[in-house]
Amino acid sequence: WNKIGLIGAMAEEIEKIEQGLEDVVVAEKAGIRFQTGRFRGKSVVLCKSGVGKVNAAVCTQLLIDSFGVDAIIFTGVAGALDPSLDIGDIVISTECQQHDMDASPLGFPRGTIPFAETSVFRADAALVALAVQASERLEQGHTVQGRVLSGDQFIADRDTVRLLHEQLGGACTEMEGSAVAQVCAMNGVPYVVIRSMSDKADGSANVNFAEFAAASADRSFRIVEHMVASL
Ligand code: ADE
Repeated sequence: WNKIGLIGAMAEEIEKIEQGLEDVVVAEKAGIRFQTGRFRGKSVVLCKSGVGKVNAAVCTQLLIDSFGVDAIIFTGVAGALDPSLDIGDIVISTECQQHDMDASPLGFPRGTIPFAETSVFRADAALVALAVQASERLEQGHTVQGRVLSGDQFIADRDTVRLLHEQLGGACTEMEGSAVAQVCAMNGVPYVVIRSMSDKADGSANVNFAEFAAASADRSFRIVEHMVASL
């Protein structure tokens, strides 16, 4: 990979990368700030997409078309769905799916994009392996490889957690990964999503998110840093 796109949705998710960025050139498109530069010796384009799937999709397409990235790493926090995951633990995406895509009244199972060939977008095996290796080396907490579910919803309810875990097989839930994944698939660009748990998407999720988002974002950042350095 010659140029890596690095995306976070929120300021806390990109600020440590920003601090380590050298030879920075800033450009703005569609209201998103793209910072081209070098991070740990590698060419990268860093951006804060904003929250939600539309922001993430636009950001990803711009990274590909206007900045010529040939791989994308998303870093940030998520709500845990897998009961073995605690706050601070790590999910590395094997694949991503939109949990809020729902045309079930038409007979399409929840999470399925009508008439599409696939609704589950596989992450790049080499990027996954690199992330797993980095996470194991760093020993920051329990790491699982699994399905990342995305929707334009902050989940804070145990019944929804059970549904998303049991019916859709999600390891964690967030609001951008699947949009990045789908746009990457549409363009043939490899990606991986790395998420550290800020909460368990239950009745305490809002409180836990406020308390733990920054520390968890930092854990995800460390994995990305390690990955980029080892490229
Ligand atoms: N990001 C972090 N926690 C989340 C949650 N509970 N739901 C959606 N996105 C999240």
